[in-house]
Amino acid sequence: MAYISKINQEKNEWSKIDSDLIAVGIFEEKILTDLANQIDMENDKILTNAIKTGDLKGKVGEQNLIYVNQTRVLVVGLGKKKKLNPDTIRKASGSVSRYAIKQKISSVSIECFCMDSIQCQAMGEGLVLGSYQFNNYKTDKSKLFELDSVTVLNSESEMIQKGFKIGSSICDARDIANHPGNITTPTRLSEFAKEIADEGDMNLKVFEREEFTEMGMGALAGVAQGTNEPPKFIVLEYNKGGDSKPIVLVGKGLTFDAGGISIKPAASMDEMKYDMCGSSTVLGIFKAIAKLKPSINAVCIVPSTENLLGGNAYKPGDILKAYNGKTIEVLNTDAEGRLILADALSYASKHYEPEYILDFATLTGAMVITLGHIATGIMGTDEKLIEKVKNSAENTFEKVWELPLWPEFLKQVKSEIADVKNIGAARQAGTIAGGAFLKEFVGDNIPWVHFDIAGTAWGSEPNSINPKGSATGWGIRLVLDMMKI
Ligand code: BES
Ligand code: MN
Ligand code: ZN
Repeated sequence: MAYISKINQEKNEWSKIDSDLIAVGIFEEKILTDLANQIDMENDKILTNAIKTGDLKGKVGEQNLIYVNQTRVLVVGLGKKKKLNPDTIRKASGSVSRYAIKQKISSVSIECFCMDSIQCQAMGEGLVLGSYQFNNYKTDKSKLFELDSVTVLNSESEMIQKGFKIGSSICDARDIANHPGNITTPTRLSEFAKEIADEGDMNLKVFEREEFTEMGMGALAGVAQGTNEPPKFIVLEYNKGGDSKPIVLVGKGLTFDAGGISIKPAASMDEMKYDMCGSSTVLGIFKAIAKLKPSINAVCIVPSTENLLGGNAYKPGDILKAYNGKTIEVLNTDAEGRLILADALSYASKHYEPEYILDFATLTGAMVITLGHIATGIMGTDEKLIEKVKNSAENTFEKVWELPLWPEFLKQVKSEIADVKNIGAARQAGTIAGGAFLKEFVGDNIPWVHFDIAGTAWGSEPNSINPKGSATGWGIRLVLDMMKI
């Protein structure tokens, strides 16, 4: 597990800071942050002079290293002062951790240049996210460098530690998703859920193949027919909200998706180890809940299996019966995510009285075509809830875009011989067909939003808080914001 294990907070002035790297800020208006200003005044205007040469511009993303009396000072651009926002702070802080790792510097301080406590939280998050590396399978450790801690200077805000906890939870979610399918199995997901339950004083139920089959989860059982890796139906309950209705989160935990009998092409099939990113998102949220212990009620449901092919595998044409009693005609075994979610959404609707349900799934390749790796497509039944999602997306800079669930689309998943079929109209609106199918399994009058994270869960353009070739942990910050945590 490679990310910082703590953030220290220290009050100090320039001359007393004992670090090998000190990060300070500059705004585009050529305004220095407090500590930068102090360094400038006490060292013959060294930064003012660098501004004059044109080297320090203060643009977002800019980094300049200046040696001041044998100490490395990293001056980080923060953009226009009036426009300073949590996203800029998060990325600037991440870039400091990144820089330290690149240069193998273990003693690092950063000035708190935040204007409010939300920005302090973002600084805590950014420092952790920027320090994340997935090195587990590199055996030559001599080439690796891991950052252990960072010190934030001149802030007593508790929000830095809150950000640290959220950032750590996101890194844990990335980790479980980055491990390949032979390590992150359904069993491993259930162990991760157990760790979370223990840390957060939660109830954990894990239903095995025989149990969930017996209970009537014919859709999950159908998909799981083709694998010997024991499938799991995982339920985590967190009850610290008194009489309030629970928020229910559902995540697709498909630990490897070969497509089943409707097999996928070989190229890039390895990427389907990420097909459990819906589950890593919801488990990551619960990891943060375990650390922060908010006064809420929440439930996390993860149906988990592989989707393989073989003599036992389910077949195109098969008809399955989901937990809510509806029959499903399987026209493509590669549209398996919606099948396992059908049972999970039915279970959530039957056993709880949810305030709302959110589901997260790498559900359709069409999503990547629609919005690339930039935004998550959302669909739902309740305008107020969708508004709430959009609001939190703005607060956390995790972008969403709503797609319509019009009746015309709902009709496209009706089957001739069963209640529904697991694909829509051929080569049309594939992401919406996924949402339309899922809607059939959400109880009437339960507000619900579906997040198709196929584009955002991995494969995004790398930046200072998102390493190349890694799962992102997308959506954890957004949902915590929705929950007012
Ligand atoms: N896990 C995939 C979706 C996916 C594909 C996510 C590529 C990210 C990148 C899902 O199970 C799937 O295979 N969906 C099919 C559905 C189709 C058969 C209706 C798809 O998108 O091709
Ligand atoms: Mn599939
Ligand atoms: Zn899948």
